[in-house]
Amino acid sequence: MSASSNSNSTTRSSFSSALEERRWNRLGDMMSRFHEYFKREFNTVYELADGSFSRRGLSLPLYLRTARDMNNHLTMHHTIEERHIFPILAKKMPQFSNKADGAHILSHKGIHDGLENLDRLISKWTEDPKSYSPAEMRECLDGFREVLFHHLDEEVADLRGESLQKYFTLEEVESIAI
Ligand SMILES: [Fe+2]
Ligand SMILES: [Fe+2]
Repeated sequence: MSASSNSNSTTRSSFSSALEERRWNRLGDMMSRFHEYFKREFNTVYELADGSFSRRGLSLPLYLRTARDMNNHLTMHHTIEERHIFPILAKKMPQFSNKADGAHILSHKGIHDGLENLDRLISKWTEDPKSYSPAEMRECLDGFREVLFHHLDEEVADLRGESLQKYFTLEEVESIAI
């Protein structure tokens, strides 16, 4: 039993101490907290789309505000990443490149196509609340769910310490502020 737990711990980690592991994982851990929040926001907007927002005490305008908040949070997050974080990471990690082959930028574009559709629908329903359609809302959200959730997980995986240490020193990683 102790032999197997020993072998687990030696194969599990390439860090010399728990403290070092935490330092290498700081970026990924912070990103994960943001991303888990975005997933909860998306799932709430999806769940309440059928009109159950009213049972939670939300009017249609307030529900639409929730959807717009999610849109704004994701847009702001991606703008900050693309301006301040990806350019540093892209020096050594091609998946963060802002060229056509940059996987994360491509995902951001896919997500934002979906968010633009959502924005159009929110504007339409704000002007004409009677036209609100639960099916149309869920269809719109389903249209970018996969690219969004895949990206949120993949970006965190790329920012885990074990990934970063293939490309950067710990000092370089700790100089990246998010
Ligand atoms: Fe992110
Ligand atoms: Fe991102």
